[in-house]
This record gives sequence, structure tokens and C-alpha cells, in this order.
Amino acid sequence: MKYSPEHVGIIMDGNGRWATKRGLPRMMGHNAGVKRLIKILPYIYERGVKCVSLYAFSTENKFRPAEEVDNLMKLLSKNLQKLSDEIADKDIKFSVMGDTDFLPSDVRETIKALTEQTKHKQGGYLNVALNYGAQDEILRAVNLAVKKRKELNKQEFSELLYTAGLPALDLIIRTGGEKRLSNFMLYQAAYAELYFTDILWPDFTEKEVDKALDFYEKRNRRFGRVD
Ligand code: FPP
Repeated sequence: MKYSPEHVGIIMDGNGRWATKRGLPRMMGHNAGVKRLIKILPYIYERGVKCVSLYAFSTENKFRPAEEVDNLMKLLSKNLQKLSDEIADKDIKFSVMGDTDFLPSDVRETIKALTEQTKHKQGGYLNVALNYGAQDEILRAVNLAVKKRKELNKQEFSELLYTAGLPALDLIIRTGGEKRLSNFMLYQAAYAELYFTDILWPDFTEKEVDKALDFYEKRNRRFGRVD
């Protein structure tokens, strides 16, 4: 019997390089990346994963050239609803982590509508990081904790993170060849298994999902203890 991670984080890297390799503008890589995401997300849930957290736009991404940021926002606005429609039959609850004030109003509206429409869903979770940085998230939680004027335990502190109510992170997949977390879910990654692949995100097929989940299945998770 295959056992699947409950919560998978995905750093979808390599869209730009995928396009450049083909002599295309970088934006074409992001377009191909979204198409791939829409294609494989249902499959990830079908493989038994309950919660998926996606690194879609980091706090640092907004310092890219204005045209790329603008186009990425348009891409989000066009595809967030589409992504949610693809998994509608799976009873998935939608959430966003990050400082959404920066996002254009149509993206904020879509987020609000999807969050509202799916708030009672119980089949699983889709958590999208938008204008997200883990250091900002931890700092925000610390500031909320300070306001409470009492010492918190780990459980109480984790309730102040964007991921309150979500299961612990079991596996992080990063495509595109870099071996780092780039400010993604640093607190939640404490005991996550890390899977790095050279495959560029637009080439991340169902077969690549299988490879990542097979890797996870072979890990011996000790959580700092001995067997
Ligand atoms: C990193 O590739 C990718 C991004 C900054 C954007 C990822 C976003 C998506 C795939 C869209 C998500 C859409 C929805 C609806 C959630 P890169 O540009 O850093 O690639 P490079 O390292 O090759 O330059």
C-alpha cells in the first residue's frame, strides 16, 4: 500500500528558463507553467495528497521588471478560478497566504469569492502563496503574539501563521534545479522531506509527480528520534 504525504509544498521554478531555451519570451514559460499546474493538480489529489501549498508569487518576485509582474498578475486573474474549477469535484477548500494588499483588485476579488465559496469544503486544501515570504509570515505571527501579551506554546504560535488549521508540511518539491527553499514555508518545513529535481516546471508531468511521491515513500521519517 502506497503511503502519501498529507501536505505537499511546491516551488514551481524554471518557467523563464523553459521559455528562453525555446527562444520565447519569459511570459510564455509562465503560461506553460499554469497550463501544467491545471493539468497535474487533480492528479496530485488523486494520489492521496490532502493539502497542496503552491509558491505562486513571492515577496521578492514583485521586484522583477514591471511588465513581468503585471503579466503574472493577469495570468493569476485569468487562471485562479480555472484552477479551482478543475478540482471542484474534489471538495477542496481554497486559501491564500501572503500580503494580498499588493495584488490587483480583480485578483483580490477572485480570492475572496473562492475562499467564501469553498469555506465548508472538507475533501482537502489548496493553499496558494501570493506575495508571500516566510520571514514576513513569521514576523507577522510574532507581532500578533506580542499583542496577546502572554507566552505562547508551539500550537498557539502555529495558529498565528497563515497555515493555521492546515496539516503539517510533509514534502516540498522544487523544480528547476536549485537546491534551496527561497523563503518558502520556513517554519512549516521543519520536518518536511525535500525533493529537488532539474526538471523545469512546465515539464513537470504526472510521471514526475510519481517520482517525487515515490521518493517520499522511501524516506524514513524519524522526527529527530531514533527508530
Ligand atoms: C518561477 O519561475 C515561477 C514563478 C515566479 C511563477 C510561478 C507561477 C505560476 C506557475 C502561476 C501560478 C498560477 C496560479 C493560478 C496559482 P522563474 O520565472 O523564476 O523561472 P526561471 O528561474 O527559469 O527564471
